[in-house]
Amino acid sequence: MDKLARFSVSLPAPLLEKFDSWVDTRGFRNRSEALRELIRRFISESCWEDGEKTVFGTVTLTYDHHSGDSAREITSLQHDFGDLIICSTHIHADHHHCFESVVFHGKASRVKEFIRQLSGLRDVSSSDPVITTIP
Ligand code: NI
Repeated sequence: MDKLARFSVSLPAPLLEKFDSWVDTRGFRNRSEALRELIRRFISESCWEDGEKTVFGTVTLTYDHHSGDSAREITSLQHDFGDLIICSTHIHADHHHCFESVVFHGKASRVKEFIRQLSGLRDVSSSDPVITTIP
């Protein structure tokens, strides 16, 4: 565990009230824990927007494997971006539908390109990626 550093923050009173209410609603134990989570999330989002940093993430897909070439296209795309993809988990949700969760790690700009091409596949629904960075 890293050594903790303390700092003080000045906020307008109404904003602090809203923050405390949010901290309570979200189930954080205290303001510090909530602020640590917000800072980590902010840094991850900045790394994603920046494009140059390395990120980890997941994206989930659903598709009908009988529909057109969807299964083949998804596999082909994952091979094209094999340098990013750590693993994928495929679940045969029912007779027609497949659910797939893809875990990736790489430069944000390349991940964005993977997500862009994935979103462009016909007959495939993909989630927004969930991105994180090593703190
Ligand atoms: Ni399947």
